[in-house]
This record gives sequence, C-alpha cells and structure tokens, in this order.
Amino acid sequence: MEKTRLVSGVRPTGLLHIGHLEGMLKNTASLQDKYECYPFIADWHALTDVTDTSHLPEYTLQVAIDWLSAGIDPEKSTLFVQSHVPEHAELSTLLTMVTPVSWLERCPTYKDKIQDLDQREGPSTGLLEYPVLMTADVIIYKAEVVPVGGDQVPHLEISREIVRRFNHLFGKVFPEPQPLLTEIAALPGLDGRKMSKSYNNTIDLADPPETAQKKVMQMVTDPARVRRTDPGNPDVCPVFAYHNVYNPDEVPQIDRDCRSAAIGCVDCKRNLSQKLITTLTPFYEKRAEWASKPDRVREVLADGQSRAEKVAQETMADVRSAMNLA
Ligand code: TRP
Ligand code: SF4
Repeated sequence: MEKTRLVSGVRPTGLLHIGHLEGMLKNTASLQDKYECYPFIADWHALTDVTDTSHLPEYTLQVAIDWLSAGIDPEKSTLFVQSHVPEHAELSTLLTMVTPVSWLERCPTYKDKIQDLDQREGPSTGLLEYPVLMTADVIIYKAEVVPVGGDQVPHLEISREIVRRFNHLFGKVFPEPQPLLTEIAALPGLDGRKMSKSYNNTIDLADPPETAQKKVMQMVTDPARVRRTDPGNPDVCPVFAYHNVYNPDEVPQIDRDCRSAAIGCVDCKRNLSQKLITTLTPFYEKRAEWASKPDRVREVLADGQSRAEKVAQETMADVRSAMNLA
C-alpha cells in the first residue's frame, strides 16, 4: 500500500535555532516511517522577507544540514530545495487563477505583515500570494499531511479552499491537505521573549556546544529573584521552560527547590546546560559530520530534486490535462 504523503517546508531566512529543531525538524523526522515525507527548503518563500539574497546559498545549505542532522534520512525521505523544482511555480500561477484576492487579503499572517511594513510601495505581490505558493508546494505532491505550528494553520485553510475550488471547476485532481498541529516545544528566547533571530536571543543549531552552554549561563531568570535567598517562581522563568524540554525527570524537584530557594540560579543553569548538551550531542555529532561534507549534502539535494521533480511532473500532466492546457 502506498503511504500518505507529507510535505514540510522551512524558510532559509537565516540560521535555524533549537526551537526549529525541537519543533518542525525532529517532528518531521519522527514521521518518516509513517508517511512518505517531502521535507524541503522554501527559498522562494524566504524572498518575501529578504531582498539581500547574498546569504541565501549559505542559509539554504545550512538548513539542509539541519534537516539531515535532525534525522531526515535521504533514503526514506525526499529532501530538496523549492526553487530546484520549478513546477511549484507553474502550479502556483495556475492556482492564482482560481484564488480570489479577498481570500488572501483576509489572511491573518498577511494582515500582520503589512502592519509593520515600512516600504512606501506597500506589500509585494509575492507576499500576498504566499499562501498560493505554499498550496502549490503541498498539493504538487498530492500530500495530505502538513506538520505546522499554529501560525501556519490559516494558510492551510486557504489551501483547502483553493483545492475545493480547483476540484470543483476542473475535476478531482487534488486531495485536501490537513495540518498536523506540531507541538512546538515551548522554548522561549534567552531573554524570555519569543525566540527569534530578530531579537538576537537564540541558541543556533550551528553554535558550537560551548557557545550554547555559555548562552544558557547568560539566560534571564525570574526577575523578582534578586538575592540567592529569595524564593523563585519557575512559572515565569525561561530556564525552567528549558528544563521541561531537556531535563524533564528533574522538573518536580527543581520546581520545589526553586520555590524554597534551596537551589540558586547559577547551579540551576549549570545543570540545564549539561542536560542540554547531553540531549543535543547526537545532533551535534551528525551536524559536524554533514557540515564537513557540503558536497555530499549537495548530492542529497540533487537526488531529492530528481525524485521530487518526477512526482511534480506527473501532477502537472494531470493538471494541464484537467485544465485543457495539454
Ligand atoms: N510557510 C512555512 C513557514 O513559514 C514554510 C512553508 C512554505 C511551508 N511552503 C510550505 C510549510 C509548505 C509546509 C508546507 O513555516
Ligand atoms: Fe529559574 Fe532555576 Fe533560578 Fe528558579 S532556580 S528562577 S527555575 S533559574
């Protein structure tokens, strides 16, 4: 029996951090046996944010290394770069013909984005069409499952509407893709805000382990805990949130010892930094290995391209025939 297909994209707008690893990357890797997986690097989607493209080749390579180090097995899964499979763009163009502008203008991520745009010209057409291209990314493989964080759910809502409309007009070509809500590991940034490159509060996957350890020691803690003898409140402490992910066994103990001031923050962080390194060591080892062989990574991407292309071309043949473009 053929496996259900799954598509999972990451935008190479910069280096990825441990939040990406504990969320999307590991999650997709864990689904490789259950689904036929198409993890990819959404470099066209990165262009909705980035106009200086000089770092794009490097970030694309780094994200590929991260996918592989997180456990994506190139034998099982098709790892590729979006722009290497131009059929995504062809399908996206055709989908725009059945997608009302109003659906896209209503999209919450679009509305948020245009709020903080400073360009005089306003949003690009590409930004408006972001969900259309994303739809093409998924349905060109006739995928039914898309692991995403909550922020991407509105995009897939639009994807399903586009699919329904397309199938209604031209006959049933595509299945409706469903989001597989990914439990995004609750890892705040080092300063307690959302972990984000723009806040400069990330632990990057490319950071050497020593750097990751140093960053843990610099994390903010419960701001009300000033003296060592002050009791702490783990509920407001980002270090505690990390213990939940990297040191779950000791969480009840740390909770008690923090509230009673039996442990100090420095010891608490030292403990965390050790657990974090222990947990991430297999990842770091694989990453060092892949990073030392960029040509091998490029080979994996080239192989992924040819496998993805084959499926994409079959779908486009169906699409052209359904739309009488054949
Ligand atoms: N929009 C996704 C994000 O920012 C990236 C993405 C592009 C994607 N195309 C996709 C994710 C297709 C899943 C499927 O995270
Ligand atoms: Fe946070 Fe640990 Fe300090 Fe408590 S002891 S405030 S959990 S760092």
